Amino acid sequence: MTMNATDSATGNWSFLMRVAISAALGGLLFGYDTAVISGCIGHLQAHFELDAAMKGWAASCALLGCIVGAASAGATSDWIGRQKTLLLCALLFTISAIGSAIPQTLAQLVAARMIGGVAVGAASMTAPLYIAEIAPERIRGRLVSLYQLAIVVGILLVFFVNMLIEHQGNTEWNEAHGWRWMFGSETLPAVLFGALLLMVPETPRWLMKVGRRDEALRILERAAGTDYARAAVDQIDKTLHAHEATLGELFRPGYRAALAIGVMLAIFQQFSGINAIMYYAPEIFKAIGTESNAAFVQTVAVGAVNLVFTFVAIWLVDRAGRRALLIAGSIGQAITLAAVGALFHTNGSGVLLLVMILLYVASFAMAMGPVVWIVISEIFPNRVRGRAMSIATFVLWGACYIVSQTFPMLVDTVGSATTFWIYGIVSIATLVFVATSVPETKGRSLEEIEASWLKNR
Ligand code: BGC
Repeated sequence: MTMNATDSATGNWSFLMRVAISAALGGLLFGYDTAVISGCIGHLQAHFELDAAMKGWAASCALLGCIVGAASAGATSDWIGRQKTLLLCALLFTISAIGSAIPQTLAQLVAARMIGGVAVGAASMTAPLYIAEIAPERIRGRLVSLYQLAIVVGILLVFFVNMLIEHQGNTEWNEAHGWRWMFGSETLPAVLFGALLLMVPETPRWLMKVGRRDEALRILERAAGTDYARAAVDQIDKTLHAHEATLGELFRPGYRAALAIGVMLAIFQQFSGINAIMYYAPEIFKAIGTESNAAFVQTVAVGAVNLVFTFVAIWLVDRAGRRALLIAGSIGQAITLAAVGALFHTNGSGVLLLVMILLYVASFAMAMGPVVWIVISEIFPNRVRGRAMSIATFVLWGACYIVSQTFPMLVDTVGSATTFWIYGIVSIATLVFVATSVPETKGRSLEEIEASWLKNR
């Protein structure tokens, strides 16, 4: 499957881009749905009179849904297909957006947020899978990275929408109504996601799996021409046979190391505290005396830096390599988090704090953010890749839940300074782990990576 789509009939690019953008919107909703909470959480705390533990719960309950969604998406997308699973996600996103805008009690809100969480978790597995399964090999990396880009665009977009809504009224209005509009605003991208998905096909790989070979061939022909389609169908046939391996294979010496690396990177990505910033940014800025409207503007700056440095990662990841980025990124995170802690400790300047937080987000966005997702999609053997990715994604959401549930509680008990220092220590551990255990995967085929585990066992 080495033929380049751009080598064959024109129009393929537009077909593939349309298909990839539709699926990547799943990433946009992932970013939107998880980060919308940053604008709402302060108002929810006032509206429902929440203590630190309940505040953590209101912010993180959706992530429990994500864990469930990530764990069940593999089976669902095998059963009803990738496209239908994504359509189901679009429906759940819509129900959750409306449901979160109208609750009378915290329990109703939690239920609605959890439904959205299931959609996020399922889409976080299925959208990249969908793109990877429909894209010709040579442009697969670029098309999959659209997905990561969509996550950060979703985050920036919702920070911006939250800011616009926050500016519509005073604190009283925001505590009573503002947060409802913030949650409800997700209805629009959710409906758009569903509408676009109705216009894209199922993936050829899934169609072949369920015996719909002719349809698979037609879609591959549309993607990159007849020769490519014939070769691809043969190739898929072979890998389908190989798919019968058991999960036990992952725990054998050799591949076990790959699993450990995937799981540890997922944990390190989340325990770096990134979502303490993404989900609580306005709260953090308000805590050092920034006025509410300005805190929302600063949050938009966080989203913008996150987006810009994701481009830096996309540009560098195939040039400098994964290891170099991860090493530079974790050093940057450790230094900036130490500085954030010190500024809280000494009641330092708000401007400096904003600068350090932005530099921290930049360090994360150019490395741990995208590279962890890239590495966990590369290091697992072909035959168990789907299931192994599902384990790593499951752990990632579990770690994400722990950080967002405990952040307000940590701030209340040990204080902001120590909380950020803890995240800083995790970044030092990340650096040591990457330097000693993560192999470079740049420029190697998936099969070469797979074989290297057995060599080094
Ligand atoms: C992480 C998310 C995080 C986002 C921030 C992603 O790679 O998995 O948890 O919110 O980056 O940009």
